[in-house]
Amino acid sequence: MTQRFPTPPARGTCMLPTRPSAEARALLALRRSAGKNTLGSPGPAGADLQELLTVAARVPDHRRLEPWRFVTFTGEERAAFGQTIAHIYKADTPDADDACLAMEAGRPLRAPTVICVISSPDLAHKTPVWEQELSAGAVCQNLLLAANAAGWAGVWLTEWIAFHAGIDTALGLTAGERIAGFIYLGTATATPPERPRAPIADKTRAYSDIVSG
Ligand SMILES: Cc1cc2nc3c(=O)[nH]c(=O)nc-3n(C[C@H](O)[C@H](O)[C@H](O)COP(=O)(O)O)c2cc1C
Repeated sequence: MTQRFPTPPARGTCMLPTRPSAEARALLALRRSAGKNTLGSPGPAGADLQELLTVAARVPDHRRLEPWRFVTFTGEERAAFGQTIAHIYKADTPDADDACLAMEAGRPLRAPTVICVISSPDLAHKTPVWEQELSAGAVCQNLLLAANAAGWAGVWLTEWIAFHAGIDTALGLTAGERIAGFIYLGTATATPPERPRAPIADKTRAYSDIVSG
């Protein structure tokens, strides 16, 4: 394993509340997802992947519930999951042709490493489920950023497989759990062009403008 991140600090360690860094600013300001068909080998696996997930899990988390977990797919696991996807698709779409089923089976093969991030809220807890689900979303984004910082390209996809009870069962989800996304990681085989983004002023209002009508 190549250690790419600092060792997780021991509980109680005095932590810096800011960490000014030109590299970190560039990472954030220039972040871009990879195209879903542009992720080649290698991808993170084994201890390297565990390190990435450890960093990804350092998210805001109201009342420390850690309301998320991961299922990882590397190597042959991807093809096995692909067969499950195709099987479920075929059950829903009996007249699907072979090309279509091959496409479904190939979904997890689009990257060497696929991580299913599962939102796993404590439904009975006083922390609202919405907050817990937001924390799972933060894990997805943190995982992408950590991967990019470690040299891996990635993209967060859901597609129909994130919203199907049969897939949930196949992945062992329990009541209240939901798939937050599949994070596909690998080595970039293309450079994505920048995409259109709204000026932030179009998405922002000062409170004084709201109260003055
Ligand atoms: C929850 C979530 C689910 C997504 N699912 C898909 C998807 O299924 N297919 C897809 O093409 N893009 C999906 N995206 C969008 C991509 O991850 C990516 O954000 C988009 O291609 C824009 O690229 P950018 O992240 O560089 O801005 C999803 C994004 C989010 C946040």
